[in-house]
Amino acid sequence: MRRKLLLGNWKMNKLASEAKEFAISSKPLVQKAKDAGIDIGVAPTYLSLQAVKENASSDMIVAAQNVHQLVSGAYTGEVSIPMLKEFGIDWVIIGHSERRTYDNETNAKCNAKIKALISNNMVPVYCVGETLVEFEGGLTKEIVGTQVRDGLKDLTAEEVKNLVVAYEPVWSIGTGKNASTEIAQDICHFIREVLRELFGEVADEIRILYGGSVKPENVKAYLSCEDVDGALVGGASLKIDSYEGLLLNIL
Ligand code: 13P
Repeated sequence: MRRKLLLGNWKMNKLASEAKEFAISSKPLVQKAKDAGIDIGVAPTYLSLQAVKENASSDMIVAAQNVHQLVSGAYTGEVSIPMLKEFGIDWVIIGHSERRTYDNETNAKCNAKIKALISNNMVPVYCVGETLVEFEGGLTKEIVGTQVRDGLKDLTAEEVKNLVVAYEPVWSIGTGKNASTEIAQDICHFIREVLRELFGEVADEIRILYGGSVKPENVKAYLSCEDVDGALVGGASLKIDSYEGLLLNIL
């Protein structure tokens, strides 16, 4: 039985002071989620990780939005796994389409990061998804299949069992143009079949999220899809009221 997972991706938003305020206000929500058996979390910027970790409930998942695969060295602007671990962070979003687009995050780079995280007992949330041109060209499964295969290359069934995959069609992110529930189910099911081909039965334990213009009004419909185990939410996770709305609608 896969537990539902609601994860907010704050992207480059919120000062640490604002993140702290959100973390404090989120305590009752996190308790409600826990009582209902739902996992809930947010991914603040690096600079707000500590504020959220220290002020939110200990049941709140606090994820970083990226990490470097190496431990230390001459990599200006990067943050490593031990640096995150020192602050008690053990979830990291990998391969978000914005990083793939603006920071040349390739499937191979994602693979190196995912391997490094797993070998440190951390949870990667591996994002995949096609662009509008690819979607319109009927290439979704080809693109997403390659992202899954290459991103998870050389890993074993045992290693991927705690991994989370997030399907986020690029054309639906921040556009208000969300994928239909049929598309979300079809592609999340396809991802699970690729995982099954790669890793066998453990595919049934791996959580697959949908992301892209998820709002309190549509979150329930997505989570009612058999292969959609949760949501990765950008804009609608920034305000506590709307974050609460997301949770209340899936309780
Ligand atoms: P929006 O929910 O703002 O469309 O963003 C989705 C996303 O990119 C989450 O990672």
